[in-house]
Amino acid sequence: MASLLITGGAGFIGSHTVLVLLEAGHELVVLDNFANSSPIALDRVMELAPADASKRLQVIEGDVRCAEDLDRAFCAASASIAGVVHFAGRKAVRESVEQPLLYWDVNLGGTRSLAEAMGRHGCGLVVFSSTATVYGEPEVFPLLEEMPTPPVHPYAQTKLAAEQMLAALVRSQDWRVASLRYFNPVGAHPSGRIGEDPNGIPNNLFPYITQVAAGRLERLRVFGDDYPTRDGTGERDYLHVMDLAEAHAVALDHLLQHQGAAQVTLNLGTGHARSVLEVVQAFERATGISIPYEVLPRRAGDVPKLEASPESAAQVLGWRASRSLEQMCRDGWAWQRANPNGYQ
Ligand code: UFG
Repeated sequence: MASLLITGGAGFIGSHTVLVLLEAGHELVVLDNFANSSPIALDRVMELAPADASKRLQVIEGDVRCAEDLDRAFCAASASIAGVVHFAGRKAVRESVEQPLLYWDVNLGGTRSLAEAMGRHGCGLVVFSSTATVYGEPEVFPLLEEMPTPPVHPYAQTKLAAEQMLAALVRSQDWRVASLRYFNPVGAHPSGRIGEDPNGIPNNLFPYITQVAAGRLERLRVFGDDYPTRDGTGERDYLHVMDLAEAHAVALDHLLQHQGAAQVTLNLGTGHARSVLEVVQAFERATGISIPYEVLPRRAGDVPKLEASPESAAQVLGWRASRSLEQMCRDGWAWQRANPNGYQ
């Protein structure tokens, strides 16, 4: 088992991944500045983790852009850090258009200062959180990793630039890097103890639906029903956050077992796009709660469809998403119902 640094480990995907990695027996240092996450998430992870896990998790409050914070994190483990899972970053498309410098600073600058710290501490292995939005506004599906990546907003641009920076370290310094392009992660751990905790009114479809189901919001606003899709509403490749968390554990194992330089860039999705209305219906079936909605004009910046080819991830990692849309709905709703105000 390895000592690993997890940046952004208190966030939505990070917290689920920390649990999976503790279950696998690893020793973890989490570095998080809690800018968009809560330390309570990690307390909840510890409730769910094996009994001995408290000896295997250290939490450092700090920022990936700060060399001192990074040095503290690298020195916190009992053994030297063998690999990093780098979640820390900003992830809201609209915010990235309004505050581009923040995105270049945190997403690219943060990855650069992390890479420098890795160099100082003799670690050249990283699993990096990337995004399906690097494909821009694609028209051919399913999306293969070698297809063009013309990102259209600073969020995707900074993620793609960070992918490229890490790829350069594979070539120049024999690093081992996995860039994982997430499609739309949703749902929650089936216990309902950890889940997604957006600030304020949710931007994303799933948390919005669960808040309508809880009565906190009156009705869903469906952004556009005139897209060139099956029913006119936007299609996305939703995957269960536990499937995504497990993919990180498998990607880490793949890199740790690999001798010499390695670079893998993989889509993580199910390979099945679902429309907004299909998600609403699946949620209603899974929970028995009806979701009132109204159709509004398209949301600026939305693309009609995203759908992964999951074949490279299956070939390279032997990983496929296995949980159904119904499970995503059921688990997401269990989390929302038990935690109406998130971690507060
Ligand atoms: N949608 C609605 N109503 C809402 C919210 C969303 O109709 O209240 C629709 C959108 O128009 C879109 C679909 O639901 O068709 C999914 O929207 P989300 O906001 O849930 O997800 P996005 O695909 O827009 O973006 C998400 C993340 C990004 C990430 C991207 C990768 O928010 O950070 O997936 O595909 F980059």
